[in-house]
Amino acid sequence: MYYDRITRLLHLLIALGIAGQLAVSLVMIHPKPGRAGDLFYAFHETWGVALLGLLVIHWIWRMVRSEPAPLARFFPWLSPARLGELWADGKNLMRQVRQGGLPHETTPGALACAVQGLGLLAATALGVTGTIFMLYVEPNVRPEGWLHDIKGLHEGLGVAMWAYLGLHAAMGIVHQWVGHGSLVAMFRFWEKAPGQTGSASVALLVAGLLVSGTAWAGTPEDLLAGYRAEGVQAFDAERGRALFAQQGVPGEDGRVTSCVSCHTGDPRQAGKHLKTGKAIEPLAPAVNRERLSDPAKVEKWFLRNCKETLGRPCTVQEKGDFVTWLRSVR
Ligand code: HEC
Repeated sequence: MYYDRITRLLHLLIALGIAGQLAVSLVMIHPKPGRAGDLFYAFHETWGVALLGLLVIHWIWRMVRSEPAPLARFFPWLSPARLGELWADGKNLMRQVRQGGLPHETTPGALACAVQGLGLLAATALGVTGTIFMLYVEPNVRPEGWLHDIKGLHEGLGVAMWAYLGLHAAMGIVHQWVGHGSLVAMFRFWEKAPGQTGSASVALLVAGLLVSGTAWAGTPEDLLAGYRAEGVQAFDAERGRALFAQQGVPGEDGRVTSCVSCHTGDPRQAGKHLKTGKAIEPLAPAVNRERLSDPAKVEKWFLRNCKETLGRPCTVQEKGDFVTWLRSVR
């Protein structure tokens, strides 16, 4: 079996990523009402989103490149012809195993592909459910309704992923052991592809990473453009400054807070979480270049923080005003 370089690289990163996520999930501490998540949990969230990005690249790569097997071969479930192939391959496998061997093919077998397709679906579903949960869960609120179901689905898929990873790795080892060189074929990721396809595919991967990189690394202007697209035309930095200091509504514990309670009155200063006491890096992009560069992160924290202090989500106007003020702070 021959795997191209990109496939080998993606496989390596995804394999390490999934194994790491499963391992971390054993030790991490989930946040729940009255208790913050730990560093492992934060890592699990961040790396989960990155892994979802890798999986998307992998999906695209499988669509672009039909070797060693076209994408359709991984999902035989809706085609009678492919289901027939799957059945025949299963019977063939049983026969060979009874004779004390394992089939050795130059193209991946229908059964192997079908199982791997399920693994790929499960991994992607894990990424999607995890990301949705991360975006919608709120601190100190027990997830209920559909969000609770998403959490259950994510955990159930996690168990399935342990089983898949065990089976998948075991099959790789067995194939290697009986002399098919499967592990070597998949993990020699430094080896060049025959012909010039090697450099072409590396160029493609780099281009893909750059495109996704710029999609992630946004600017405050991108945020404002998004708010304009939602129908708000003019922003006012002064109103943004006022929002920062505005006293909110009493929280569960009866305390009235404002943004300042955690972020301090000066966004160029590091803050401290009101409840957990954890340090918070300064908010102003002038001193912290990572701020306002990741729209998903900004929206997530706007939602959490506005609900926590004001008892409601911030309006698009408020968010635009706040971003306008924050980026002007020098
Ligand atoms: C209970 C504490 C707390 C309060 C109150 C709070 N924040 Fe935050 N805020 C955080 C934490 C924690 C983070 C994320 C940690 C980090 O990124 O360092 C954060 C992150 C943010 C971010 C993300 C910025 C970025 O680009 O990374 C924005 C924007 C933000 N807060 C705005 C606000 C606004 C506006 C208010 C008031 C309506 C507010 N915060 C009130 C704790 C708080």
